[in-house]
Amino acid sequence: MIKPYQNTDGSKKEQVRSMFDRIAPRYDLLNRLLSFGIDRMWRKNVVKLLKGLQAPMILDVATGTGDLAIEICKIDPVEVYGVDLSPQMLEFAQKKIQQKRLHMTITLKEADSENLPFESNFFDAVTVAFGVRNFENLRKGLAEMQRVLRPGGKLIVLEFSKPASFPFKQLYHFYFTRILPWWGGLISRDKDAYRYLPASVLQFPEGTEFEDELRAAGLEPEKRIPQTFGIATIYVSVKK
Ligand SMILES: C[S@@+](CC[C@H](N)C(=O)[O-])C[C@H]1O[C@@H](n2cnc3c(N)ncnc32)[C@H](O)[C@@H]1O
Repeated sequence: MIKPYQNTDGSKKEQVRSMFDRIAPRYDLLNRLLSFGIDRMWRKNVVKLLKGLQAPMILDVATGTGDLAIEICKIDPVEVYGVDLSPQMLEFAQKKIQQKRLHMTITLKEADSENLPFESNFFDAVTVAFGVRNFENLRKGLAEMQRVLRPGGKLIVLEFSKPASFPFKQLYHFYFTRILPWWGGLISRDKDAYRYLPASVLQFPEGTEFEDELRAAGLEPEKRIPQTFGIATIYVSVKK
């Protein structure tokens, strides 16, 4: 199992929590710099897929500093819940939510995706952006998201993937394994965190392999939408 701090004790979950607590103050800046701002467009593309839902209840898992939960408010949901393991990431999310006066719509909770504090069949949609790769037990996390969705409800996952065609495959590999760990380590002051990022992406199941995981959790994959030459992928699945 790929963990952020390979030479340190602690479960993946404990290490992921402390890594995000540590990088939280620079997380948004790093996202913008390292993705050249494209990460915003990817989240907007997730939200486009939610349009058409009438006054929905939405859960954003691994909400981090809240960017996707905030973007979701553009479709006028009744309520958005954002959950995350890291109290520091949630603190930054809460500040942004207050500044944007969205505190009546978004409720944050410190919680583990593998044990969600919600009743079954509750949400119209569940979203998770760049979260599933960090779960300690992927299948348990997916099964929990399936449990809290109502029948017919959608799970939308945005996660990094690996471009497959020339020259993006080669360019991406060079950027992701050489430039990003160095630059990210420098700005975040946590070298391990930006070594963990490419390492965790390279070993994470993608495409049909990830869809098999969705099926194993009781979800039916509907579509798979590559983003920016396949650097990221949006997976849409439904609870039958
Ligand atoms: C890369 S950040 C993504 C944050 C946000 N979704 C975004 O799009 O920027 C991953 C987040 O997943 C959270 N996370 C990882 N494992 C988790 C788990 N088991 N339960 C809840 N949150 C988790 C981390 O604390 C971190 O805030």
